[in-house]
Amino acid sequence: MFNIRSKPIKYLILFILLSPLVKLMAQEIQLPSQPLEGQKLFLSKGCVKCHSIFGEGGKVGADLGRTQANKNTMDIVAAMWNHSWEMNRAMLRGQDVPQLSPQEMGSILSFLYYLKYFDEPGSPSEGKKVFSEKGCIECHQVGGIGGKSGPALDTLSIYASPVFLAQKMWNHGRRMVRKIKQKGLKVPRFKDNEMADLLAYLQSVSPVKPSLPRYSFPGSPQRGERIIKEKGCLKCHRVNGTGGKIGPNLSEKRFHEGVTKIAGRMWNHAPKMWKKMEELGIQPPRFQGNEMADVIAYLYFLGFKSIPGELAQGEKLFHEKGCIQCHAIDGETDSKKVGPNLARTKGLNDIISISAAMWNHNIKMREEMKKQNIPFPRFSGEDLSNLLRYIRSLREQENGDE
Ligand code: HEC
Ligand code: HEC
Ligand code: HEC
Ligand code: HEC
Repeated sequence: MFNIRSKPIKYLILFILLSPLVKLMAQEIQLPSQPLEGQKLFLSKGCVKCHSIFGEGGKVGADLGRTQANKNTMDIVAAMWNHSWEMNRAMLRGQDVPQLSPQEMGSILSFLYYLKYFDEPGSPSEGKKVFSEKGCIECHQVGGIGGKSGPALDTLSIYASPVFLAQKMWNHGRRMVRKIKQKGLKVPRFKDNEMADLLAYLQSVSPVKPSLPRYSFPGSPQRGERIIKEKGCLKCHRVNGTGGKIGPNLSEKRFHEGVTKIAGRMWNHAPKMWKKMEELGIQPPRFQGNEMADVIAYLYFLGFKSIPGELAQGEKLFHEKGCIQCHAIDGETDSKKVGPNLARTKGLNDIISISAAMWNHNIKMREEMKKQNIPFPRFSGEDLSNLLRYIRSLREQENGDE
């Protein structure tokens, strides 16, 4: 069975049990209220009988922690579709093929998309190197060792998440960077898991040993969306088509990576952001409580939320892949074709419901394709995004919906 004590999953559960609802106002894809629901479905729908997540679970199919955690939403849907035959064959040995409602499809996808968020715990020995190589030791004491131009960092050991470290560094950052420059030192930059390593080191040497470390919530993308508006980030950044142009368009950046890396990126760019803020007379925002985690979760889910799609490419695929052979798309009489008219079928309102419908009907479609000598189509995630964009456009024309 699924071992929830495996590392990433353990963290996932810990975070999520503490979690408020994770919801996202989506343009294209609505996030489920909690990714944990996706994990529950992964168990209850039987995916776990054949698939592992980071080594825990069934071995009939791939370890989805390893193969899918890096993927975009539509890549995952495409992988499910492309492998549906192998899955069906494996399932037919005594199991029912799980049917997924649009909501369930969305939950499973957001769960799989979420897997990358949780980093491996930091390494104290690596952290020790970071602490001296990046010069923190020149100004900060921990466990009685280090300089005194900055405050001692012993109390940071109460935190279990490097996001808090990043938040404190951000809040004190301008003064700290000024000091660093005064001393002729280099402003530290972070990559990979370095912030997590640093925190692990602080925890290992600090005399402050909390009985119950303070975990961060996984961050609510929905709250993050509100926070970046309130904190004025949109004065400089565009997100999903709104906002300023002084900083980079955040929707064009990829933040589908570990939470520690995203925190590191915020820090690395901070000195330039502060400089711009000074020029524009904007007070640099400070983060409290879980706010930094919320912002990071929002950045992380930006790529999940909006799926690009090209109409013309989609239309081409609809013909090339044979969909047009069986599905009427406009006024033509449906009776000539074996499949339903995709512009009119009920319930295919968004990209996730269409994905779920394709998954649920894949066996029947495969049979019909076989009869008509149409090869079973395979897709890249990008193909699928384009195709579904096209199907949605048919529906918009037909119903004026959305
Ligand atoms: C009865 C076994 C079985 C069940 C149940 C099952 N799968 Fe699969 N799955 C497979 C097999 C076999 C493959 C093809 C081999 C492979 O690529 O992993 C596959 C492939 C996949 C792939 C593509 C993997 C890759 O790396 O390309 C995804 C994604 C996937 N399954 C998701 C799911 C989800 C989500 C569920 C639950 C709704 C599920 N599977 C249920 C057996 C199963
Ligand atoms: C040149 C000296 C200097 C260096 C080098 C330096 N800091 Fe600081 N740091 C400071 C000062 C000064 C403050 C207090 C700023 C303030 O009062 O707002 C500070 C504040 C902090 C805080 C907030 C502490 C709290 O209790 O809220 C953290 C966390 C921190 N630094 C971490 C680091 C880390 C990690 C490094 C190395 C990557 C580092 N600092 C390198 C001088 C330095
Ligand atoms: C005054 C303008 C300004 C404001 C306000 C601002 N930023 Fe920035 N931001 C920038 C600029 C300019 C850069 C590029 C800096 C660089 O190139 O190093 C940047 C870079 C970033 C990056 C790095 C992107 C990457 O390539 O990895 C992130 C993330 C980011 N900002 C998030 C935020 C968030 C979150 C807020 C609100 C709390 C915010 N910014 C507020 C100007 C701003
Ligand atoms: C050989 C005929 C055939 C081809 C080719 C075909 N389909 Fe289908 N499709 C069907 C049939 C038949 C159904 C209804 C299946 C059922 O009732 O279970 C269906 C159902 C669907 C549904 C679900 C509709 C609903 O009622 O919810 C979607 C979405 C869909 N197809 C999309 C596609 C797309 C996209 C393509 C091209 C990649 C395609 N189909 C190619 C025959 C086909």
